Formats: sequence, structure tokens, C-alpha cells
Amino acid sequence: MKITFYDCEGWEGEMIKSRFPEHEIILKKEALNDESVPVDDPSDIISVFVSSKVTEKVLNGFPNLKLVVARSTGYDHIDREACAKRGIVVSYVPGYGDNTVAEFAFGLILMLARKLYPAVDRIKETSSFSQEGLRGFDLKGKTIGIIGTGRIGKEAVRIAKGFGMKVVAFDPYPDAAFAAAAEISYLSLDELLGSADVVSIHCPLIPETKHLINSSNIGKFKRGAYLVNTARGGIVETQALAEALRSGILAGAALDVLEEEGEIKDELGFLAHGHPSAEELKVLLGEHVLMHMPNVLITPHNAFNSQEALERILNTSFENIEKFMAGAAVNVVE
Ligand code: NAI
Repeated sequence: MKITFYDCEGWEGEMIKSRFPEHEIILKKEALNDESVPVDDPSDIISVFVSSKVTEKVLNGFPNLKLVVARSTGYDHIDREACAKRGIVVSYVPGYGDNTVAEFAFGLILMLARKLYPAVDRIKETSSFSQEGLRGFDLKGKTIGIIGTGRIGKEAVRIAKGFGMKVVAFDPYPDAAFAAAAEISYLSLDELLGSADVVSIHCPLIPETKHLINSSNIGKFKRGAYLVNTARGGIVETQALAEALRSGILAGAALDVLEEEGEIKDELGFLAHGHPSAEELKVLLGEHVLMHMPNVLITPHNAFNSQEALERILNTSFENIEKFMAGAAVNVVE
């Protein structure tokens, strides 16, 4: 079989080649998207990371394609409907970095709570040891609202408990046994927004969660709360967030993910080759506003990025490929 890996780093190459000595392996550093669609590529399997966008147009470049292996937990960058139409199986990596992402979310929470970024930046930039404006707040005794209590959300709950925080959660599929054991309570989304000092998002981006936080409910946050999003940018409406930060409804936000993440990484390409809609341009503008707000921290979709997590991702992706080839596909996106 011909297997093509996109978004590949050098260290992964040897691991991939030695795992599949019988097959034709192609390793590509670049991402796969509408701008890089191959012509009649005979690959049977492709594997992509979140920087790729597997659209119907992309799929059309692979007439023999049978399996798309997402080397990630999220798979909203893959057009599953278009795959289903052609009978292409999509596999993903559940649970490679539950602690990895939750630890990162708490890194962001601590940065917001204790103003770590301006504190470090002040000394680096000005050599000033002044503490002016750097007073933060304790996490112990504060309430954290966890949206989505799946694998990552549960790890976030455990860490929050370690800090002595009170935990409330929202999930349309609550896990009563976990709630009892962890001593947390489930609330409605509005109740959670109204009672949490810090809200951390850990649900997937699906049609039901697109703009879950939006201009109609952002006013329900407890005034002066903080929002942390390490899930997907599209869960939070960018303009509503910028307005809430400007007006003081939210005191700060930390975002590892943005709504138009691909576009903001390559704005020139987006403007030159895309056909940006007014809506997309508005989001892009909103993201620029966020980037320049002093109370907003943005990281480049980096929560997954620990060596241990990456090795787990690769190993699970290998198993996904091997089991698919053996006729017993696992970790299939339904
Ligand atoms: P999971 O599938 O274990 O948990 C998701 C939880 O969200 C489930 O409990 C589900 O019931 C809940 N949920 C579903 N619909 C909801 C809604 N409308 N409102 C609130 N909760 C809802 O997923 P996991 O592994 O915990 O990952 C969560 C998300 O984190 C992924 O979908 C992915 O987008 C994101 N992620 C981000 C990474 C990063 O590097 N920034 C890395 C890995 C994952």
C-alpha cells in the first residue's frame, strides 16, 4: 500500500519507515489543503495533523483513498461527510494527551491568575523589578467551570481539585459516577457561566458547540471572570469575546485555539488565494484585536505539544493503520 504522511517532522520519519517496511511510505513536511491538492495521487492511506484541512476537493486528488488517519483527537479539519460518500474510513487518536492538554490549560490559568507573562516580560524588556500592577489572585477557594467532562475535562477537574478549587461542570452527557467520586456538581451552561471565576473549555467542536459561547450568553459570565480555551476556536464567537473583554465582563482570556486559526497563520495566502467572506474577515479582524489586548494570552495551538504525547499519537496512528489493513479498523470516527 502507499501511505502518505503529511505535517511530518524529521524525528517521526525513521519511526514511520521502520514500522511499515513492506509499504511505500511518503513523508511530507507540508500540510495538505485546498492549495496543495495532488493530481491523481495513488495513496491508499493518508495521515494528517490538525494543520491540514481535508476537504472534498482534497479528497478528489486521491482516487484510491481508503483511510484518513487523523493524528489528533479533534477531527473537525476532515470533511467526514465527503469521506462517507466515498466510503473512506476516518480514524483518530482518542486520549493521547488528556493530562498533556489539561496541564497546559492550567499553565494558562496560572499565567492569567498570577500575571506571569507581564512579570517575566517586564524584567526581560526593561530590567525593572517593580511589582506595580502584578498582583494576582489565588486559585485555592475559587470556582472553576469545566465545559465538557470527557477525557481532558476530567483531568482538568483532578488538577483543579489539587489546587483546592471548587469545580462545577456543564456537559449534555453528565457522568454522574465521576461527579460523585470527584465531588463536583453539574450545572446548566448559564448557571456555570454565572458562578465560575475561571471557565475552561474541553468539549469538541461539533455543530451543537459552534459558538457555544456567543453574544447572547457572554453577558451571563460572572463579571470579571477568566476564560480559557484549549479546545477549538469555533466554540467561542470571536467578536463576542473581544467585546466582553473590552467591556470588563471578562477580566482576561487565554486561548490556545482561534476561530480562523489556519487563516491567521497564513494571512497573505488567505487573502491572495482564498475568497474570504465578510464573516471570515470579521473574525480575522477580531483575532487581531484579541492579539493586541493586554489581558489576552494566545498560544499557537500548542497544548498537545509534549514529546510524550507526540509519541503516543504516532503509536496509536500506527495501530490505526495496522488494524485497518488487517480488516478490523479501530478508533474510527462514526
Ligand atoms: P472527549 O470526547 O473525551 O470529551 C468531550 C466531552 O465534551 C464529552 O464529555 C462530551 O459529552 C462533551 N460535550 C459534547 N457536546 C457538548 C456540548 N454541547 N457542551 C458541552 N460539552 C459537550 O474529548 P477530549 O479528548 O476530552 O477532547 C476535547 C477536545 O479537546 C477535542 O475535541 C479537541 O478539539 C480538543 N483538543 C485540543 C488540543 C490542543 O492541542 N489544543 C489537543 C487535544 C484535544
